[in-house]
Amino acid sequence: TKKIILDLDTGIDDALAIAYALGSPELDLIGITATYGNVTVGRSVRNSLAVLELLGRTDVPVFAGVGHSLTTDSFTPSELSAFIHGGNGIGEIEIPTAGRNVEQQTATDFIIESAHRYGEDLTCIPTGAATNIVAALEKDPTIKDAMGPIVMMGGALTTEGNVNKWTEANVSQDPEATDRLFRSGAEVVMVGLDVTHQTLLTKAETSTWRDFGTEAGRCYADMTDYYIDFETKAMDIAGCGLHDPLAVAVAADRSLVTLLPITMQVDLEGPTRGRTIGSLAGLSDPVKTVGVAVEVDVERFLGEFMTRVGSVLSV
Ligand code: BDR
Ligand code: CA
Repeated sequence: TKKIILDLDTGIDDALAIAYALGSPELDLIGITATYGNVTVGRSVRNSLAVLELLGRTDVPVFAGVGHSLTTDSFTPSELSAFIHGGNGIGEIEIPTAGRNVEQQTATDFIIESAHRYGEDLTCIPTGAATNIVAALEKDPTIKDAMGPIVMMGGALTTEGNVNKWTEANVSQDPEATDRLFRSGAEVVMVGLDVTHQTLLTKAETSTWRDFGTEAGRCYADMTDYYIDFETKAMDIAGCGLHDPLAVAVAADRSLVTLLPITMQVDLEGPTRGRTIGSLAGLSDPVKTVGVAVEVDVERFLGEFMTRVGSVLSV
């Protein structure tokens, strides 16, 4: 099995990513690190702990990460985030606060320690701001050659963003961090919005979770319905995008997507700040820096999603 760390701004699709990871036999979730984006780091910690307890997995440790971007000294979630994920990040549903605390070790140190302990068997999956992963890669540059891939949800290669015309939410939180991640020399796989917007979930699927008659099934159906209502409105799509779960799925099985090797960079100035784009200079690089997902087997992924998440929510 692959050891994975989920680096989450827990958020509704982040909570779906937790369930997908726990339902994946190829994956061993060794820890969750908290980043910011949909919510603050504090809220992300609290939501991850609560969701893990709901799913009966209090054995998975949660670590607090950096609370703001490389270029700012504080963070407040945007109105758009609160609109899509609810003010508490989980669709305004009540999940009891967990009966345990965040770990003492920082997210950065947990990532570094795990990279040395598990080497290539470790995959990190950032699905919020990339700040924690970059902090780890810069604090201990030796981990980039030691560890396995970083499979990130964020950016978009070919279409418009969801924050504005150009920019996807996760990259918009800390464009410098994503740019440094692309240039870090670590193996990076990018699962962007143009691909995740092809993987839509509707209330026809979430109603099957309610039918399980479990607390977890009911909570997940309620919060995902909230997400479906608001993502549908905000993005004009026919369901909610399974952004973060798709990154987990790609970590488990790359054959779900087609990856195009590209040397990527992030626009840091002007109106397109936060846009992920192929580097012109990098076109002639013999080795490209990022494997960019450009196509997804939607039917197979949705089948895996329902099986894996269902296996976790039905017990
Ligand atoms: C990404 O932004 C967040 O709102 C979601 O959780 C996902 O990680 C989609 O752009
Ligand atoms: Ca997220």
